[in-house]
Amino acid sequence: MIKRALAAAFLLLAAPQVAARDIYFDVPYVATPPAVVAAMLNLAKAGPNDVVYDLGSGDGRIVIAAARDFKVKKGIGIDLDPDLVTLAAKNAKDAHVSDRVTFARGDIFKMDFKEATILTLYLLPDVNVTLRPRILDLAPGTRVVSHAFNMGDWVPDGADNVDMRRVYMWIVPAKVQGVWTANVNNVPYRLDLTQHYQNADGKVKIGARETAFEMGIVKSDVFTFTAAGPVTFEGKVAGNTITGTLTAAGKRTPLTLVREAS
Ligand SMILES: C[S@@+](CC[C@H](N)C(=O)[O-])C[C@H]1O[C@@H](n2cnc3c(N)ncnc32)[C@H](O)[C@@H]1O
Repeated sequence: MIKRALAAAFLLLAAPQVAARDIYFDVPYVATPPAVVAAMLNLAKAGPNDVVYDLGSGDGRIVIAAARDFKVKKGIGIDLDPDLVTLAAKNAKDAHVSDRVTFARGDIFKMDFKEATILTLYLLPDVNVTLRPRILDLAPGTRVVSHAFNMGDWVPDGADNVDMRRVYMWIVPAKVQGVWTANVNNVPYRLDLTQHYQNADGKVKIGARETAFEMGIVKSDVFTFTAAGPVTFEGKVAGNTITGTLTAAGKRTPLTLVREAS
């Protein structure tokens, strides 16, 4: 317990640095141990369909392990330190994964990482929180794994402990906030949703009858809710459309809900 606290405290205390060549680093360089790298990629269920981005990639070990051991189709590391970018490229070559792994010198706050299906982080709590709005704009289902630090009030979808280190995992939820409507056989359906990460609160109106949600969950692009009645719903979110099935008092109704312009 003390060791784990010390590991996290190390990065926190070491906080932002200006190197000899006047580069401002938001996070100092500290490498993730190999067993923790493996735990992060296991937690994210990395596999051949994935594109892994490591923000602040250091010597490249996370994206190299993703390509070598988890066979991901592409790995990209971004780091501000040109020497680390050069070292990471050499390490990728030595590991025979240069065909799938590249490293770019750049600032994680300016570089594009929209194509990531897995994002790995060993940064600092405030850096994670600053990146959070951009992370929430990634495609629903993107997995985000962070060594040691959480993401403010965004509760993780998974976590693991390895070698006294803590690893967290989040799944980017689809955006469901807003008013959604459908009409089936002249019966109007309406959902009013307020979203807080993977939780959705709201009410469902079927005809003239309105009921508050008991529970609403967004996992990747799947939205489910329950309400008194009993009413249950499960549907797939694709932009401004949710396609699914609503069950009210045992009767199943296929619904295609469209989000009203806000
Ligand atoms: C704690 S290390 C993590 C290294 C690697 N991801 C790992 O887990 O082994 C943080 C890395 O972020 C880099 N870094 C710090 N600020 C950055 C920024 N604004 N943009 C890109 N990289 C940055 C540092 O150079 C350092 O290599």
